[in-house]
Amino acid sequence: MTRPALPRFALGDPLPPPTASDELRLRLATRRSAPAQALTPPGPSAEELEDILTLGVRSPDHGKLFPWRLVVLGHQTRTELAGLLTPLAALQPQPDKAKAVLGKLTAAPVTILVVSAPVPSHKVPEWEQQLSAGAVCMNLEHAAHALGYASSWITDWYSYDPQALDILDVEGGEQVAGFIHIGTLSEAPLERPRPELADKVTYRP
Ligand SMILES: Cc1cc2nc3c(=O)[nH]c(=O)nc-3n(C[C@H](O)[C@H](O)[C@H](O)COP(=O)(O)O)c2cc1C
Repeated sequence: MTRPALPRFALGDPLPPPTASDELRLRLATRRSAPAQALTPPGPSAEELEDILTLGVRSPDHGKLFPWRLVVLGHQTRTELAGLLTPLAALQPQPDKAKAVLGKLTAAPVTILVVSAPVPSHKVPEWEQQLSAGAVCMNLEHAAHALGYASSWITDWYSYDPQALDILDVEGGEQVAGFIHIGTLSEAPLERPRPELADKVTYRP
């Protein structure tokens, strides 16, 4: 499907003000993650992926540091990574489960690894820089959904195991914010528990 190109803005250009969108409202009300292993083709085309990445990096970021980097992991690389991570799965507390979740790495048509890469000793606290990486993950998911795809935000054990991080080329000082897997779901996802607002929100005069 041919879509109009995303608008581009030069520095300082006035941006259109927000307008109410019932479609977006409904989208947000029905947003649901996909199980990564259930994601199948079709996935985004190269042009659609470019849109998803463009929208994803348009995320809040204190200090304009852009303290993250994105790696689009092709299928060949993901298969190689899964192979290299397999021996490490055996060393995890639940080796069978650790091995099984490696299947999530190779299932989806498209995978974007979001790495939080905070600028050290900056006046913007590292925590805020990490939050910005999380915002990129969320916006990638919203962008994928806007193009009609399902997605899954996964970390799993290999986002924390030091040897796995070496294999993933995640450097010291960096963290995996998430693997964003994107594709198509053949079955509608089911609603999961959601918090009651009253349990999570307080109002102060
Ligand atoms: C930082 C982060 C890491 C996550 N890692 C995993 C994971 O490793 N495995 C998993 O099953 N779900 C993981 N999730 C949860 C899913 O992405 C998803 O949010 C969850 O299944 C809830 O579904 P929903 O997005 O439809 O509300 C993670 C979520 C976040 C925010």
